[in-house]
Amino acid sequence: MKTFIIPLFVFCLSPIFMFSAPSDTISATESLKDGKTIVSAGGSFELGFFTPQNSSNWYLGIWYKKIAARTVVWVANRDTPFNGSAGVLKFSDQRILVLINDANTTIWSANSSKSATTPVAQLLDTGNLVVTDHNDPETFLWQSFDYPCNTILPGMKYGVNLVTGLNRFLTSWKSDQDPSRGDYTNQLDTAGLPQFLLKKGSVVQFRSGPWNGLRFTGMPNLKPNPIYTYEFVYNEEEIYYHYQLINSSVSTRLTLNPNGNLQRFTWIDRIQDWSLYLTAQIDDCDRYAICGAYGSCNINNSPSCGCLKGFAPKSPEDWEVADWSHGCVRKTPLDCHDGEGFLKYSGIKLPDTQHSWYNKTMNLKECEQVCLKNCNCTAYANLDIRGEGSGCILWLGELIDTREFSDAGQDIYIRMAASELVTYRRLKGKTKVKVIVLSLLAVGITLLGLCLILHLYKRKKKKEKKQIKRKLGNMLHTPEQDSNDQCQDEHLELPLFDFSTIADATNNFSVANKLGKGGFGPVYKGKLMEGQEIGVKRLSRSSRQGIKEFKNEVLCISKLQHRNLVKLLGCCTEGQERLLIYEYMPNKSLDFFIFDEQQSIILDWPKRFHIINGIARGLLYLHQDSRLRIIHRDLKASNVLLDNELNPKISDFGIARSFGGDESEANTKRVVGTYGYMSPEYAIDGVFSVKSDVFSFGVLVLEIVSGKKNRGFSHTDHKLNLLGHAWRLFKEGKPFEMMHTSIKNKNTSSMSEVLRSVHVALLCVQQSPEERPSMPNVVLMLSSDITLPQPKEPGFFTERHLLSMASSSSQRESSSSNRLSISLEAR
Ligand SMILES: *[C@@H]1O[C@H](CO)[C@@H](O)[C@H](O)[C@H]1NC(C)=O
Ligand SMILES: *[C@@H]1O[C@H](CO)[C@@H](O)[C@H](O)[C@H]1NC(C)=O
Ligand SMILES: *[C@@H]1O[C@H](CO)[C@@H](O)[C@H](O)[C@H]1NC(C)=O
Ligand SMILES: *[C@@H]1O[C@H](CO)[C@@H](O)[C@H](O)[C@H]1NC(C)=O
Ligand SMILES: *[C@@H]1O[C@H](CO)[C@@H](O)[C@H](O)[C@H]1NC(C)=O
Ligand SMILES: *[C@@H]1O[C@H](CO)[C@@H](O)[C@H](O)[C@H]1NC(C)=O
Ligand SMILES: *[C@@H]1O[C@H](CO)[C@@H](O)[C@H](O)[C@H]1NC(C)=O
Repeated sequence: MKTFIIPLFVFCLSPIFMFSAPSDTISATESLKDGKTIVSAGGSFELGFFTPQNSSNWYLGIWYKKIAARTVVWVANRDTPFNGSAGVLKFSDQRILVLINDANTTIWSANSSKSATTPVAQLLDTGNLVVTDHNDPETFLWQSFDYPCNTILPGMKYGVNLVTGLNRFLTSWKSDQDPSRGDYTNQLDTAGLPQFLLKKGSVVQFRSGPWNGLRFTGMPNLKPNPIYTYEFVYNEEEIYYHYQLINSSVSTRLTLNPNGNLQRFTWIDRIQDWSLYLTAQIDDCDRYAICGAYGSCNINNSPSCGCLKGFAPKSPEDWEVADWSHGCVRKTPLDCHDGEGFLKYSGIKLPDTQHSWYNKTMNLKECEQVCLKNCNCTAYANLDIRGEGSGCILWLGELIDTREFSDAGQDIYIRMAASELVTYRRLKGKTKVKVIVLSLLAVGITLLGLCLILHLYKRKKKKEKKQIKRKLGNMLHTPEQDSNDQCQDEHLELPLFDFSTIADATNNFSVANKLGKGGFGPVYKGKLMEGQEIGVKRLSRSSRQGIKEFKNEVLCISKLQHRNLVKLLGCCTEGQERLLIYEYMPNKSLDFFIFDEQQSIILDWPKRFHIINGIARGLLYLHQDSRLRIIHRDLKASNVLLDNELNPKISDFGIARSFGGDESEANTKRVVGTYGYMSPEYAIDGVFSVKSDVFSFGVLVLEIVSGKKNRGFSHTDHKLNLLGHAWRLFKEGKPFEMMHTSIKNKNTSSMSEVLRSVHVALLCVQQSPEERPSMPNVVLMLSSDITLPQPKEPGFFTERHLLSMASSSSQRESSSSNRLSISLEAR
């Protein structure tokens, strides 16, 4: 690769050249030739010629000056490269900035409607190449920010100028080495209520959804953060999104990748690499219209697609085999008569607004009236959800590309026939007292009879189930059976092991081979015939999930690949047995090291910090980067395994999801977890979210720093647990007292890492889930020097809290039939 190391901007080849020019501009009489560059005044960006790796094509581009791995943010002649070495950027006789090749042909030009008398091109420190008139430097006659390629930089307006008709949009590169226009574009669509559409060719792939005052309705991960502020501007002249840096020393960019992922990266100086901050497409439910018209996608359901209330699959046969593209149809068609009304849905990504109508000033009541009067209107919602909500959107056709979010999303009101409304209103429990009394009586009388029938029925069902399971077990060995499973269609081969093979490998699950016990069953060490060592998890037989669903889930999980996750090698389902086969981790688990006086010496601070960062990245992958969006729910020291080089690998991920069966993300009847690591909202109310994992992560970090277990922690001075202890020391300004003796030393660089780790951990264990940072922020906070907010009081910081919590949970277990499976860590 050719690099340019010419320190000064020397115009030796231009006869009428003036030396007085500053190094960030090209004047009317100067030119920029191959081999030379200009650098913006603040030294942030550089403009020059470059050639991608393994390519003979030359391009004019802008890249970060300070970042060694050249990251090109803008390319002028992306579709018209020149070969050889003779590109020249200069002003033409018409005073337009042009790029010419060695044959003197113009291969690119910065056309503008007005041309200047004495034009000047200047590279601003924002990365914007602007053309101005020497006498009027404030007016940009042309700017590169108006012609983005695949990257949106801070300060860029990303959207439409309604006056000039200019639409700034992203087009991906063809590949990482080829800047020419690729297949993907992301563009503001103003057909109905404006929304960004990500397309491959002309086919929509992903929809940001319209702006709702706080964010795009389909992008719940766009949230206030310590790095940048953002805004959506919508007035008579312009509609655009833009963002600004909070601290201008941070480098961040929003990039449309060659494979169609819209991603934000931030530069981390310490590791000299770009770190993925967020991906616009969260999971499979973000595939445009995956569930068809009137369908709704919920990633926590299996299958993810369902019909909206009052709708049924249009083609039940196709729906059965996971082809949801035909969508759903009304059970009772609308006829636009009196009595029609609306059903409210909450936590929704609003449907496609290409065929919508809106008014910014109407309120919800007016909105409903207008929708009722228009026979084409299928739904309405608020335009802006801030405060009470304001504005009105009407949908005038099918509702497409709707999904449910557990922690974001908004309300929508969907039109229903009168008869359907009656059904759902009654379901909502508005039944009269009279009815209740009558039915109570009826129930009393029939109860006895029912009990008898149920008993008989259950006995019969049990028999049947056994038979079905046996049949399914046999079917699993014929691969064609599952060709419709979405996790298999990408040629993924997850080996299925015979039970007998694994029994042999583990010496018939002998006690000598037992490595330990995880949340869902014991783990054994095994050795296959070929000599490969494996870890085998034998799941307890408590799942109510079918074998097929289980296998599909495991297939999905096996696709998750990250260096901080334990790799799944295969599985085995035979009869009642469900086994998971993992790579073998010779160094056991983290608890074996940090809580042991002897072993803890092996883990010095750099190793511990490496482990903390690794766990954070693994968790980030589960929460955000993987297609499944998994909440671990049982993160703890014994679930973090260490490989030969003491790299941490999270285990048991996704098992909660695949083995739990009947849970939704928001609420669970079955609390899986470990005291000491469980967040308050999860332990007490069974409500869990990614933020519950963040809590467990915080606890784990404090344990790694202190070498003490949160549960069972005691101190002579107070009755606080480890969280309370850490918080107290932090407030008193002596967080270093937390450190385990074996890692205490005077190295100042590690001191700041310790302080940062404790600080981040305390942010993670805050009482309120909303206050806790998300994993992308945690990773960023750990690896950069950004200023951290002050933590508030942790949740569960006294042992007393913990006990009262434990008893309230166990009461609940006995008073209702909720299941509770909590492993108590041995002290
Ligand atoms: C460039 O080409 C070499 C040799 O053909 C190859 O090994 C390398 O991976 C290529 N690099 C890129 C970035 O494509
Ligand atoms: C470079 O471009 C010139 C025309 O501009 C062409 O004649 C020549 O063949 C090209 N060389 C290569 C190696 O492609
Ligand atoms: C390109 O233009 C320059 C100056 O106008 C001229 O001297 C040169 O011969 C031209 N080159 C070609 C290949 O036409
Ligand atoms: C700029 O103008 C020239 C001639 O006026 C035209 O051929 C060219 O296509 C224009 N380029 C762009 C990018 O609009
Ligand atoms: C911005 O970040 C740099 C380094 O990360 C830091 O030194 C500086 O104090 C920060 N500035 C502000 C205003 O926070
Ligand atoms: C929006 O609604 C308000 C209040 O109902 C009305 O005055 C205004 O004319 C409407 N605007 C449009 C563009 O329909
Ligand atoms: C309803 O839709 C039909 C077909 O698209 C159209 O002809 C008609 O004008 C619409 N009616 C209203 C009130 O918008």
